[in-house]
Amino acid sequence: MSKYYVTTPIYYVNGAPHIGHAYTTIVADALARYHRQRGEEVFLLTGTDEHGLKVQREAEKQGISPQQLAETNSAKFKELFEKLGITHDRFIRTTEEDHKRAVTAMVQRMLAAGDIYLDKYEGWYSAADEAYYDASEIADGVAIASKSAVEWVEEESYFFKLSKYAQPLLAWYNEKPNCIAPAGRRNEVISFVEGGLRDLSISRTTFSWGVAMPGDPKHVLYVWVDALTNYISAVGAFEDEQQFDKLWPADVHLIGKDILRFHAVYWPAFLMSAGLALPGQIFAHGWWTNEGEKMSKSRGNFIDAFELADAYDLDVLRYYLLREVPLGNDGNFSKERLVERNNSELADNLGNLVNRSFAMTQRFLDGELGGYVATDDALDQGIRESARATAADVDRFMNDCETHRAVERLLGFSGELNLYVQQTQPWKLSKDGDTERLAAALYHVLEGIRFIAVLGSAFLPDASKKILTGFGLNAPEDLLLSTVAQFGKLAAGTRLSQPEVLFAKYETKPKEDALPKADKAAKPKAENKPEAKSDNNDKAGLIDFDLFGKVELRVGLIVKAERVEGADKLLKLSADLGEAELRTIVAGIAKSFAPEDLEGRRVAMATNLKPAKLFGILSQAMILAAETEDGKLELAQYSDNVKAGTRIK
Ligand code: MSP
Repeated sequence: MSKYYVTTPIYYVNGAPHIGHAYTTIVADALARYHRQRGEEVFLLTGTDEHGLKVQREAEKQGISPQQLAETNSAKFKELFEKLGITHDRFIRTTEEDHKRAVTAMVQRMLAAGDIYLDKYEGWYSAADEAYYDASEIADGVAIASKSAVEWVEEESYFFKLSKYAQPLLAWYNEKPNCIAPAGRRNEVISFVEGGLRDLSISRTTFSWGVAMPGDPKHVLYVWVDALTNYISAVGAFEDEQQFDKLWPADVHLIGKDILRFHAVYWPAFLMSAGLALPGQIFAHGWWTNEGEKMSKSRGNFIDAFELADAYDLDVLRYYLLREVPLGNDGNFSKERLVERNNSELADNLGNLVNRSFAMTQRFLDGELGGYVATDDALDQGIRESARATAADVDRFMNDCETHRAVERLLGFSGELNLYVQQTQPWKLSKDGDTERLAAALYHVLEGIRFIAVLGSAFLPDASKKILTGFGLNAPEDLLLSTVAQFGKLAAGTRLSQPEVLFAKYETKPKEDALPKADKAAKPKAENKPEAKSDNNDKAGLIDFDLFGKVELRVGLIVKAERVEGADKLLKLSADLGEAELRTIVAGIAKSFAPEDLEGRRVAMATNLKPAKLFGILSQAMILAAETEDGKLELAQYSDNVKAGTRIK
């Protein structure tokens, strides 16, 4: 059985987890889940980096021991990953004994190779980055690349002969063109190494929070020697040969672009020195900004990972992060974009497809699926071809870590299936009594949906599970990619049950509200209702009850009303609709009502219209009014007996 070993960086415990930490871990988790579906033996590693000057200083600042700080913050990362449904096989902590033993063993090997010597370090160091910098990389007291403060260091230090490995490293980059990805990052690394490598200081004597230098305990090992070793200590290096031989070398080290030098230069050099195999690939992803702004401590605008996890459904968050930017590029986190992607791509496209298809099968076929027939119909053939192509494309994209293309492809196929439903019109086939065509059309849609559920399970695990449960496919094997090697696996006689709503729509929120607030940022708005019966009542101007049901009317309590400057017809209202936050409504009723007449009234509002901007104000609902003969408006009103937010039916 082939194996797949994927790692995330281990996270510093000097602070709380933010979106960057969640992102890398979610991407790695999607890769791991997908490879498990291939039937491979997968090992997903994540954890925390707990030693070093940065952690020691933060602990001093807080007046606690570094170990205490590590305990508290490591637990937060663990809790976060549980909340995010991360399927890691080990959560490593660098304060664990087996890890510390492996670090010692690693350095002993580097010593035995004659690659370590004692000297004196004189130069710049940044505790924030835990990195040494050349004078050419410093300006105005900060490292140019990271803007982190640097300090001058002069002390006795052990050095690693990094210079000796410049040529072997270049040979490796050359022989294995994919060992650093994306290609632009590879080029960056190559030109850095071609510029010449200086030996690397790997120990310090001025602080103590770390693993001691073997044979010279007044030196503590440089935190990156310690941290990088986690990738091998976690899988039994120097202790459990069987596990180590099975899993090492890692297939992918997934990292952020800021820590590329450590992974693509230092780490392979350490491994060469210790006589160990080199990783398959180091993939550097980009950085997220928050609504267009770089996240930083000074701005205080880090997007808290727990707030994210609380504010959005996990599938939606995963989908947005994976879909929004190509892995490797920088991305901008925008709540508005997330809501848009959820509402139009997940809810309207995939959610609607699943709901309507299951509902139609219920209605027209009594919930039972006919058998697969490889019909001659061109539309059917098109769906079969697309299903096969989707599976092949997703596989290729996942091999290349192109997660954004994989999800895009899946949603594209969902769009094709929606179109197929429009074209085949199952409701018409049912009316006409064309049962054979009806059964074939619904089979093709549902089998297509099964393809999406299986192929999408790494990205949208919850939705995928709901869909597969709707088919009664709950065994772990039902997730294997081998089940989508062929179109037509859904068995005749399969009884369907309507899946729970897959994706609730979110309200679009005004831009100013930049950071997601727990449980407020995104409130589910409307559910995807099963497709309305499309009988042709249009001519008579009649609509189905289902269509009426799509309009959400609620009782809104007007809490505040004020004039809109420069618009004499408009009033700006704040209304309580029984939600966590008040909604803003811009209404053209100023000629009929003074603001103070409105406050405290309970009136009818349409609450699931697309928000619209009026005079720069985002209006999030519409107030219902009728006009008298002389042009005055009156509102549909309720007494205090009706609670704000009550649905009007
Ligand atoms: N402890 C080291 C890694 C050691 S791995 C052997 C470290 N830790 S970190 O907590 O500072 O950063 C962890 C990861 O978060 C890095 O990959 C970094 O790129 C990533 N991110 C930090 N800020 C980020 C964004 N704004 N956006 C995306 N990822 C970001 O470095």
